[in-house]
Amino acid sequence: MSEQDRSTLFELMGGAETVRRIVEAFYPKVQNHPLLAPLFPSDIEPVMDKQYMFLSQFFGGPTLYSDVHGHPMMRARHMAFPITVERADAWLGCMAEAMQEVGLPDELRDFLLQRLKGSAYHFVNTPEDE
Ligand code: HEM
Repeated sequence: MSEQDRSTLFELMGGAETVRRIVEAFYPKVQNHPLLAPLFPSDIEPVMDKQYMFLSQFFGGPTLYSDVHGHPMMRARHMAFPITVERADAWLGCMAEAMQEVGLPDELRDFLLQRLKGSAYHFVNTPEDE
């Protein structure tokens, strides 16, 4: 997909405001999920800010995350946490619900989730039985 198409994707979603709303719908679900909650700090605001910056950039919007935090290296940044396939599925499930809540059209939501799915499974670093 070209750079121009990715910008269109961010705009198609509704830009910064929609990304913010997705992040705000997503983290309460993460904090309520038995497999995910233990990995996250109770002070979730800084994580939400980073995710807002990252997802804006990931979907082709402004490079907010890299401007502040440098190269994303997202797999490396997740190595400190035991990420199993089950947790990747849980993360994607929370994200699907958040996108649903925000009211993204089904087709667009499925497309965005498909892109996140690749990353989520790429971050798996721990076998299921650990
Ligand atoms: C596969 C399941 C995933 C799990 C279990 C997970 C878990 C975590 C945890 C525990 C943190 C650290 C929170 C802290 O600061 O203490 C984190 C940070 C983060 N995650 Fe994930 N994550 C997953 C997938 C993803 C995906 C698919 C993306 C985006 C494509 C993503 C983007 C981020 C970002 C942007 C941060 C902040 C990084 C930073 O500290 O600068 N995560 N994640």
